[in-house]
Amino acid sequence: MWVKQLFAVTIAATTVAAHGYVRDWTIGGKTYVTLLPAGSPNFTAPVEGIGRALLNGDYPMTEPLSNAMACNVGAYPAPKYANVTAGTNVTARWTSWPHVGPIYTYMAYCPNGKDCSDFYGWEKAAWFKIEETAFVPYVFDWNPSGVAWATQKMYDDGMKWTFQIPKCIKNGPYLIRHETMAIHNSQVLGGAQFYPNCAQVWVSGGTGKLKPKLVKLPGDIQPTDPGVLFERKDLPFDYTVP
Ligand SMILES: *[C@@H]1O[C@H](CO)[C@@H](O)[C@H](O)[C@H]1NC(C)=O
Ligand SMILES: *[C@@H]1O[C@H](CO)[C@@H](O)[C@H](O)[C@H]1NC(C)=O
Ligand SMILES: *[C@@H]1O[C@H](CO)[C@@H](O)[C@H](O)[C@H]1NC(C)=O
Repeated sequence: MWVKQLFAVTIAATTVAAHGYVRDWTIGGKTYVTLLPAGSPNFTAPVEGIGRALLNGDYPMTEPLSNAMACNVGAYPAPKYANVTAGTNVTARWTSWPHVGPIYTYMAYCPNGKDCSDFYGWEKAAWFKIEETAFVPYVFDWNPSGVAWATQKMYDDGMKWTFQIPKCIKNGPYLIRHETMAIHNSQVLGGAQFYPNCAQVWVSGGTGKLKPKLVKLPGDIQPTDPGVLFERKDLPFDYTVP
């Protein structure tokens, strides 16, 4: 798989290749789709979606200071919410992934407390990070570092990444914002590629004990953050997830 991904990276650098977005979300044994991107040849968007549409399809977003940093270009509310018990795992399945980089996920309580229909994610400081991974163990005879970027695990797991909805959040409507970052051009200002994907969930069974520090997106991730603008080095190195 290591060989295959390295090969895919080479292809991506020389052609206009497919990148990736979250195709569907599996939560508590049920699978919910993301609305099909408008750029897709198939315009019959499934109506059962909880994932907000991605108008630039699987293309990267490279402007972390734009409103698209919240939920990607042109994202708009989806028709459904997945009902999820706090503490449950969510598995996001990507369409494909030809790059390397960290993976991280935020959540935001939808401010009106009743639904997420009037919340786009960029309006106010509402986000808190629930997980982040830069490197994963990756033992292989000619991989002396013993680690790989988080995306290697997603790739090897059939384009899937699993994270947990914290037990300690309060109940109600939330946006989940799950993201990969492609770092192959991170040595250039504006070279990092962001792939945020948002989905709507309705949390129950949370203890409400967590009072998270809320950050704004755009805002929390700056173009010059050390995890965004940096020289690539041999793995592992001191890396701070944005
Ligand atoms: C378009 O999407 C619909 C709904 O997901 C599916 O039933 C149909 O087979 C798709 N058509 C093509 C040509 O992919
Ligand atoms: C979530 O639960 C509500 C209330 O029971 C229900 O109306 C809704 O259909 C459920 N959502 C899904 C996607 O099953
Ligand atoms: C939930 O996801 C976490 C993080 O990926 C994992 O460590 C844990 O084993 C998962 N739990 C279940 C029950 O699948």
